[in-house]
Amino acid sequence: MMPDSLDSTTDFGGGAAAPDASPPPRRRGPVRLLSAGLFLLLAAGGGGIALSSRRVVKDQEKRLLQQRSTEVGALFNLSGARLQEALHTGSTVVTLTHDDAGAFASTAQAAVASRLVGAMAVVQDDGQGGYRVLHSQGPGLAPDGPLPEPVVAALARAGSDGQFVSTPVFVVDGQRRLGYAVLIPGLTPRTLIYGQSALTQSTTSPSRQNQLFSDLDGAVYAGSRVDPAQLVLSTPRFPIGKGQVRTPFKLGADTWLLELSANHPLVSTLAARQPWLYLIGGLLAAILVAALVEVLLRRRQFALALVEERTGQLRRSLADLDAAQQQLVHQERLAAIGQLASAVGHELRNPLGVLGNVFYLLRGRLGSDDPWVERQLATGEREVGAATLIVSDLLEFSRPRQPVMEDVDVAAIVDEVLAVAPPPSGIEVARRLAPDLPPMRADRSQLRQVLLNLVSNAYDAMPEGGLMVVEADQVDGCVDLTVADTGGGIADDALPRLFEPFFTTKAKGIGLGLSVAHRIVEAHGGSLEARSRGGTGASFTVTLPSAAVPAATIQ
Ligand SMILES: Nc1ncnc2c1ncn2[C@@H]1O[C@H](COP(=O)(O)OP(=O)(O)O)[C@@H](O)[C@H]1O
Ligand SMILES: [Mg+2]
Repeated sequence: MMPDSLDSTTDFGGGAAAPDASPPPRRRGPVRLLSAGLFLLLAAGGGGIALSSRRVVKDQEKRLLQQRSTEVGALFNLSGARLQEALHTGSTVVTLTHDDAGAFASTAQAAVASRLVGAMAVVQDDGQGGYRVLHSQGPGLAPDGPLPEPVVAALARAGSDGQFVSTPVFVVDGQRRLGYAVLIPGLTPRTLIYGQSALTQSTTSPSRQNQLFSDLDGAVYAGSRVDPAQLVLSTPRFPIGKGQVRTPFKLGADTWLLELSANHPLVSTLAARQPWLYLIGGLLAAILVAALVEVLLRRRQFALALVEERTGQLRRSLADLDAAQQQLVHQERLAAIGQLASAVGHELRNPLGVLGNVFYLLRGRLGSDDPWVERQLATGEREVGAATLIVSDLLEFSRPRQPVMEDVDVAAIVDEVLAVAPPPSGIEVARRLAPDLPPMRADRSQLRQVLLNLVSNAYDAMPEGGLMVVEADQVDGCVDLTVADTGGGIADDALPRLFEPFFTTKAKGIGLGLSVAHRIVEAHGGSLEARSRGGTGASFTVTLPSAAVPAATIQ
């Protein structure tokens, strides 16, 4: 008892000291959901920042490109100004020298040598809607030669404001050309300085010549539209018409178009990588935070489960303790009752013995001739027998005795019991003992007490009369001894409690008979089984080992 309650306390303490001895079950579902949600949220946040920073970088890149494109435009403008200056110098020389061919030739030669133009000429309105070359320097402009239509149209446009005009790209003898002209003021008929350049496939762009623009690709068109026919120059492999920015710029009186792309990021490398950095940073932060939250949540859940488990253990321990306490109280009560039973038993044993003797002597003196006397004597003897059985039960209950084994003849003990406790009137007794029954190994007086209890219970079960059958049979080295009656049977709820001390359903019962019988049979290493046949009777079977029959007897 006590060790039991101590054990459970020790168990509880031990369990608390080693929490991983039986880890509580983990419920992962909600934890996974929360940390996964957090991860997605943070990852989405990182992705969003990366996207918007990418937009900012792109925007910055575009603005830088725009700025660079304005710079390139300004450079072309400068080239235009130098061209215009060269043409103006020609114009001034012609005016001052009254169109001296030699003077013009040396001026034009300088311009051709500086590669500002491929060829230069003085051209004059021929009065028939065309122009003729008066003098020329450089290839492709022979004196007196006719000028192609696009050139004539451009020459006609040149005005007295001194600005130079340019022709669109035109083709002569399969060669793409470009021309520029300024009007020489104050001369009649209209006389102009005309410069011309041949466009070759290998024309390199200023962006390549100038390291400042090495990170740009692009193309320049004569005119304000993207038109492959009007392509003046481009960087190698530049996809015509697919530049990132288009910037018109002024060249003399005309507007040309510049188309540009950056061949690598114009913003700093760090800035260009910023979105990726944000994305990676965001993902790392998401993983880190989600992992941290997951760990914390799991810890919390683990702790909660542990508390739950420990609380359960505590409750169980308390319940055990409670049961133990109740059992203790019960045992103590039984012990007190036992003491009382012992005292009463001892006090009653002797007077009952004396009463038994008195009845014996009376029967001897009065004889059995008078039925009335016989009836009174039988009643007295039966009641003394019942009282003696109760006293025996009380004593056996209060001080259980170890059986002293001997060979007991079954028929003899049945006879003795039926003699001591004869059936009341109205009850018939049938004995069905198998022939050649071996003796039982038992404590004779204890077995007698067991049988007396079963028989007296059977009598009690049949107040209106009936049949009691005492049966004995040999089964597998044991003897089954059954007392069956035709009484009211045993109620279902009473069946499991039959062998409890003090369990009784009788108004005058004390409930010790079966509990004592059961204890005695168990002390013999045998068994006592109760069976109820519904409302038509009950039977109790004692099974005890049989004594080995000596071989000599069998022969
Ligand atoms: N042959 C039987 N038929 C029906 N009920 C029985 C029989 N034997 C015992 N019982 C039930 O078992 C209870 C306990 O029996 P027992 O321990 O002998 O105590 P008591 O006879 O003093 O009641 C009885 O009160 C009765 O309800
Ligand atoms: Mg009884």
